Amino acid sequence: RFEKIWLGAAILLIVGFIATIAYGSVGVGVGMVDDSGGQISAQAVQNGNTETPFDDPGVVKQGEDQYVVYVVARQFQFVPGSGDTPIRVPAGANVTFKVTSADVTHGFAVVETNINTMVIPGQVSEVSARFNEPGTYGLVCHEYCGAAHHTMGGSVEVV
Ligand code: CUA
Repeated sequence: RFEKIWLGAAILLIVGFIATIAYGSVGVGVGMVDDSGGQISAQAVQNGNTETPFDDPGVVKQGEDQYVVYVVARQFQFVPGSGDTPIRVPAGANVTFKVTSADVTHGFAVVETNINTMVIPGQVSEVSARFNEPGTYGLVCHEYCGAAHHTMGGSVEVV
């Protein structure tokens, strides 16, 4: 009889964990975007075409407290993001990162946040987030992408 109660409790816990994980991924809005616009843009980057938002990647203000950050990942940097071109966004704003790759599969993760996605050539990965705390957040590639994978990173400055 006690075993049945414990079994029931264990199943409840497991269901609870799954629900939490499911809620987490929905809440952060992580997902692949393969609407035709994104596909065309990403393929254009690979083909070296012009006239896409990824041609001149960077932060675009779309409205009050609404920003889109276009990022191109390539071996072994994020543009913008790496070196002396940090991604700079205001605290408290809704920020959507649209990230594509110009070569191989990369990762795009912002340390201390839920922002974490794969970056696949020919696709646009989209992650939305809001930074409430100003500061400098580390940006890392978390998918092995070549010999200098471990050096591929950058920063997000929230001001
Ligand atoms: Cu890019 Cu690892």
